This record gives sequence, structure tokens and C-alpha cells, in this order.
Amino acid sequence: MSTSLLYRARAYDTPHDPFTEAATEPGFRYDDDLGLVVSDDGVITARGPFSAVAPAHPDAAVIDLRAGILLPGLVDTHVHFPQVRVIGALGMPLLEWLEKCALPEEQHLASRAYAETIANEFVAGLIAAGTTTSLVFGSHYASAVDALFAEAARFGLRVTSGLVVSDRMLPEPLLTTPERAHAEAMELASRWHGTGRARYAVTPRFSLSASDPVLAACAAVMADLDGAFFTSHVNENPAEVTTVAGQFPDRSDYCDTYDHHGLLDARAVLAHNVHPTGAELEVLAARRTAIAHCPSSNSALGSGLFPLREHVAAGVPVALGCDVGAGTGFSLFKEGLQAYFVQRLLGPVGLPLAPAHLLHLSTSAGAAALGLSDVIGDFEVGKDFDAICLRPPAGTALDIGLRHAGSPDEALGKVFALAGDADVADVWVGGVQIASGGFVRALRPGR
Ligand code: GUN
Ligand code: ZN
Repeated sequence: MSTSLLYRARAYDTPHDPFTEAATEPGFRYDDDLGLVVSDDGVITARGPFSAVAPAHPDAAVIDLRAGILLPGLVDTHVHFPQVRVIGALGMPLLEWLEKCALPEEQHLASRAYAETIANEFVAGLIAAGTTTSLVFGSHYASAVDALFAEAARFGLRVTSGLVVSDRMLPEPLLTTPERAHAEAMELASRWHGTGRARYAVTPRFSLSASDPVLAACAAVMADLDGAFFTSHVNENPAEVTTVAGQFPDRSDYCDTYDHHGLLDARAVLAHNVHPTGAELEVLAARRTAIAHCPSSNSALGSGLFPLREHVAAGVPVALGCDVGAGTGFSLFKEGLQAYFVQRLLGPVGLPLAPAHLLHLSTSAGAAALGLSDVIGDFEVGKDFDAICLRPPAGTALDIGLRHAGSPDEALGKVFALAGDADVADVWVGGVQIASGGFVRALRPGR
């Protein structure tokens, strides 16, 4: 007896990259009455017009979502778990903001009980925003990272994360040694890497706070852990870039501080890269290392205007990150809109972004950056059903806008201009619904 479900919806996805030259207008796929059959293990087994799919699956129970808009689950490639409570501290550049806001708060996560509370708030923030997959910058404390993985597992979220390591330039309680960095990473990974949807990410905070021996320890963890990811920051702020150049006189540039240790490849994601050199872009493209573009953070900290055109021209993969807590919230709709604004503000050197680019950046590009293109990112047959349904409350600007949109392209533009957490009604990960009508629920034990 089949227990498949048949989702009936107005749906968008981006199975083809709208940044490629061969892309055709409007750059997304839209179906105003899509049928998606999802097996009881959460995999999409058939898709097509509802009128064709429904008769072929008479046993599947129909879930009618046509009152809303169905999108693939959003993918955030850079967000800091310990910084939920420091969102919104405005007016400072990166290094001052780290010293005055982020790093004092991060020290509180030494307490497991405090870390559990923060993990709870953090995971709730992701789900409320419709983020089903994320590359999460962890904590400097192994017990806090453990709490994060445990909380994400309660909801079945796809989280890649790890212990943040540093051995200089930060408050003493946040520092470690290369030996401890290696041992604690391996211990955490033995518990979480490959458990459910969790994966381990080797995470030096940034080269400014990580000496060569710590970066070498990171490389050793990467060598010891099959399928681990690597993540850090790069070229975010001019003062940071200058400091790193002084700390690493033998390296050609900031990217080289990581590349020297063999840390850059297709399993690496570096955040920001607002101030790259041409040579760095070439190396990133050659290594297939992705950049997490974090536009609200770059704007809030005044880090600069992201050279997206140069990244695309060089062939560097780019996805989106909200970069909470320097970023101003969890919503990838806001990040998409801010990415669009920044490219507008760059004038002739900016890359004009259409709604399709914003959807791609916040779904399939993130899936690709995280090596998950075979599993998530769009609604292709064979992929897991990770999805969100937007149902704006009646009378809101988004509700009105969607009812009066003249085309699917216009409607998607309104989503990125206007959607926020209050519009994310339902959330599924791997076919399991974890939010319904905006209410979040943990999985039953055993799922
Ligand atoms: N560089 C090193 N640490 C951080 C951080 O927490 N946030 C941002 N935006 N940049 C960083
Ligand atoms: Zn960051």
C-alpha cells in the first residue's frame, strides 16, 4: 500500500543556473498547478502538471498548497550559531564589532546550559526563516557545538558545522592549541559527521586569529575526515586584509593563507570575499571553492560592495549567507534583496539581478556550494523534498502584491522584496513537515 503524498502547488525552482550565458528568460521554472509525488522516505518520485500526475497516482493523498507559493527549502551558506543575541548592533566596522559585540557574547557559550538555550533560539530562527540547509559557523567550545548538532537533529535540519578554532588575537578563553583543535574536532566529528543529516566543517575563525600551526591542524582534520567541509572568512574588510598580509609575509594573498595548507577545494566555502585580487579569484575558480556572499552583513559593517560580476566572470561559485549576527536577520529573502540592491548601487560595474538569480542564489547555488546538488536545491525527481510554502497573512503587502502580480516573474520579485518570516507557513525537510502554519514541531523520536 503506497503511502506517497501528492503535493499540488504553485511552485518555483531553478534547475538551470540563470547566471550562465546559455540561460533563457525568465531563468526559473514555474508551474502554476504542479503535482509532486513524494515517497514516504521523503524523495520526489514524480513531477508534472497535476492533471497528468494525479491520475497516475490514484493512491497518493493530495496536499493542496495552491493558496501559497512553494519554493525549495532555502540554503544558507554562512551563519554564526553563537551570535543570535547580538543581531542588530549597528555602526561599527568588522574588527570593532568583533571586539565589542560578537566575541564577548561568544565566551558565554562556555556554559553548556547557555549554549543549549542559544542552540534552541538559533535553530528556531533558521526554521522560521525557511532555511532547511545551512553551513553554520560553530562555537569555540566543543560542548556548545555538540548542543547545536543535537538541536538541529531534533528537527532533522541539514546542518554542516564544526568547532571554531583560533590561537591568537582573540580573548584568551576563545583560544586553543593545534593539538587540542585537532583532538576536539575529531571527537566531535566522531559523534556527528554523517549522523543523520549532520556533517562536520573544519572551521578556523579567520587567518587573522589562526596561525600556521592551527591551519596545519585544520588540514590534518580534513585529511582524517572523509567528506568533511572547510569554512572560514576571507577578504571581508580592508583593515583585516592588511593585518593578515602583515601576519603572513610569505603568502601571496589572503586566499593563499588557506591554499598553502591545501584547504581550498570544492568542499570549501569562504565567507565575504568583498576585496579579492584577480589572482585570488583565479585560484578560487580553479579550486572550485565557493564564496558565501553576505550582503546585509557587508552593508551593516560597511565592509564594502561585493564584486559579483568579477566572481561570475572568473567562474567562482557564489551562494548566499545571512551571516547572523553581523547580518541583520535569518531571512534569505532579505539577503537576496540586499544582494540585488548592492549590484544596483554598483552601477555599471554591478551585475543586474533578476528574481531568478535571487532564487538560484538562495536555493540551488547553496546546494551546489555545499556539495548537495544531487540531494536538494530544486524539485527534480530523485531529490529529497525540502520545501517551504509561503502564505502571506491576508491584507499584507505581499498578499496583495501576489494577488495582483502580472506574471510569475513579477510575483517572484515581490517575494524577494516583501517576504519575511511571517510569510513562511510550512517547512519540510526530507519530506517531513517541521513547521505547519508557522508552528514548529520537533520530530518524533526515531525519525
Ligand atoms: N571574521 C571573523 N569572525 C567573524 C564574524 O564573527 N563575523 C564576521 N562577519 N566576520 C568575521
Ligand atoms: Zn561570518
